[in-house]
Amino acid sequence: MNQPKRYLVTSALPYANGLKHIGHLAGAYIPADIYVRYLRAQKRDVVFVCGSDEHGTAIPIQAMKEGTTPQAIIDKYHPIIEQNFKDLGISFNIYHRTSAPIHHTTAQEFFTVLNDKGDLEIKESEQYYDEETKTFLADRFIKGTCPNCGNDGAYGDQCEKCGKSLSPDELINPVSTLSGKTPIKKATKHWYLPLNKHEEFLREWILKEHKDDWRANVVGQCKSWIDGGLQPRAVTRDLDWGVKVPLQEANGKVLYVWFDAPIGYISATKQWALDNDKDWKPYWQSSDTQLIHFIGKDNIVFHAIIFPAMLKLHGNILPSFVTSNEFMNLEGDKMSTSRGWSIEMDEYINDWIKQPNGGESMADVLRYYLTAIAPETKDSEFTWKGFQDANNNELVSIFGNYVNRTFVLMHKLCGGKVPAFHNNLIDEVDKELIESIQNSKIKIQNCLEEFKFRDAQFEVIDLARKANQYMQKKEPWIVAKSLIENPENQKLIDNCLHLCLQLTANLAILINPFLPFTAKKMLYMMKVVDKMLDWQNAGSVKLLSVGYSLREPQLLFRKIETEEINKQLEKLKQKSIANNQQPIEKKMEEAKQPEITNLKSEIVFDDFAKIDLRVGTITAAEKVEKADKLLKLTVNLGFETRTIVSGIALHFKPEDIVGKQVTVVCNLAPRKMRGIESNGMILMAEDKNGKLHFINSNNKIDEGSTVS
Ligand code: MF3
Ligand code: ZN
Repeated sequence: MNQPKRYLVTSALPYANGLKHIGHLAGAYIPADIYVRYLRAQKRDVVFVCGSDEHGTAIPIQAMKEGTTPQAIIDKYHPIIEQNFKDLGISFNIYHRTSAPIHHTTAQEFFTVLNDKGDLEIKESEQYYDEETKTFLADRFIKGTCPNCGNDGAYGDQCEKCGKSLSPDELINPVSTLSGKTPIKKATKHWYLPLNKHEEFLREWILKEHKDDWRANVVGQCKSWIDGGLQPRAVTRDLDWGVKVPLQEANGKVLYVWFDAPIGYISATKQWALDNDKDWKPYWQSSDTQLIHFIGKDNIVFHAIIFPAMLKLHGNILPSFVTSNEFMNLEGDKMSTSRGWSIEMDEYINDWIKQPNGGESMADVLRYYLTAIAPETKDSEFTWKGFQDANNNELVSIFGNYVNRTFVLMHKLCGGKVPAFHNNLIDEVDKELIESIQNSKIKIQNCLEEFKFRDAQFEVIDLARKANQYMQKKEPWIVAKSLIENPENQKLIDNCLHLCLQLTANLAILINPFLPFTAKKMLYMMKVVDKMLDWQNAGSVKLLSVGYSLREPQLLFRKIETEEINKQLEKLKQKSIANNQQPIEKKMEEAKQPEITNLKSEIVFDDFAKIDLRVGTITAAEKVEKADKLLKLTVNLGFETRTIVSGIALHFKPEDIVGKQVTVVCNLAPRKMRGIESNGMILMAEDKNGKLHFINSNNKIDEGSTVS
């Protein structure tokens, strides 16, 4: 394909009905930002748009909860979310809002074009109506019993307990949440987008054209939707909050939020063009534009099926890429703001960035960890321990340490200036390093072009790892000790640090899309201008000129203490209790990390004797659904058979361990994991490579034999 002339990149417009959590951030915003920063560094023409989704029932529902008006809700949350994104370095060209007049007219025009062309159908239907408040009830305003799981608080569009999507007609004993009364059925008229008429196009375009270049989760969801039979979708609603349907006969009706919100991408582009004296049209109408949507998994059909059908009818270009991540869980459970099981962006910013020992680099730490565990192909899990480890073991120990050592040594051994490079002294180790720089650039670039952000970031850290090894091999601080007898050796030191500095400059360019605040700090230390970050500079080892004096190093990252993450775990627990969730003491206790010590303190024999250790045989093993680490084991202990849940699924296949003899802690208090009660624990040894081994004897021993 020819290189596109311009890019329009969008991130899903978040509802301005409350704070957004880091799972949202990881899904649709950080990857988009990485991609956009990379494109900008490539000097490509790119516009990155986003904004608040301010319509739909989510807003009036929140207004009811807070005892205020929908307008007050959006005016409260829009600026907070906008600022949160800024603080986390998400570099939108515009953060717009769908309450803006330009959006209302854009969405209305869009509707009118489709309606005038005869692309919409009008249908009358019976809908639930609340006689007391004299309003038709949006799906969300009806509650009842879920036909699937019996939950009596299910909504008319979805049961949040079992996750099933519903229509209000499926609810058993529906009641209006506005009045608490049983609603009646009343006839109403709506405009529909007949998706069924576009099946052939959608099949062809998604399931054939994009079957290989879009992620499997996107194609898979679309396929099951299309195979399930496409239906006409109502694009209007009886509601008084939203974009008014621009027709006399549609008094009291608004556009359905999922009709107007994606058009928000277009109105945002228009506003950006107005503000910057640009033309918005090519971004939506020219076939040499690449339109790329970054969204959450629950938005797939809207962006890959419905909005494209709308765009096509309206005469716009279609997205060339729709990318969505799977879900990111938090400490073993689904992230959810309403259940208090979440980390809000705003909360993270206050706790880590706006702290005396915080600062912008803490924004990069979050960006780093969220990208390192990005659920690109399967669900992943945020843990505070993982966050701490990623920071301490990768950012501090590898990346930060390398840059810091380079600067310190350059000041100590080369007078604070970029030393000369003596070509005649170049050796194999140097050559290898130069090659690594060039290879890394290519690898990172290829990953980014394929939206593999996690792999791309890994490569940058890997380059820093190699750089550390290089320095370790060259040991300039040892060479320095020989200078008195052999002053010529200064040249060896110069060569080493020259290359180390050039590599640092490369690291700044390569890390910039991921960790922009860090890249900025590195520029400052190197006393170079932003332009150095141009992608085309990567791979070169002539970025810093000889003799140029550089600043004293600043630490790029700080160590995170176990105390700090335990505080976060405690806070999470309190939040979930405050939101009426069952206390999750056990899980939290488990998640809390002990301070790292190599040896445990001394105990007396009686302490040890409390543990009832016995030999058992695994008689069955299976994976625990939705928990990649857990296996459910059935263990024969001679006197009884028990279920034990063990966190070894990443190390053993169930079928390989059936029949194995193991050592079991029999008197451990039972504990529930993923709904399964575990009765006991299997002893494992972890070697220094992190590999697990069962503790057992070579000889077969009777089940139930005690171990002491
Ligand atoms: N507000 C929606 C959500 O949070 C996303 C809207 S994306 C858009 O799930 F395309 F409609 F803008
Ligand atoms: Zn249910």
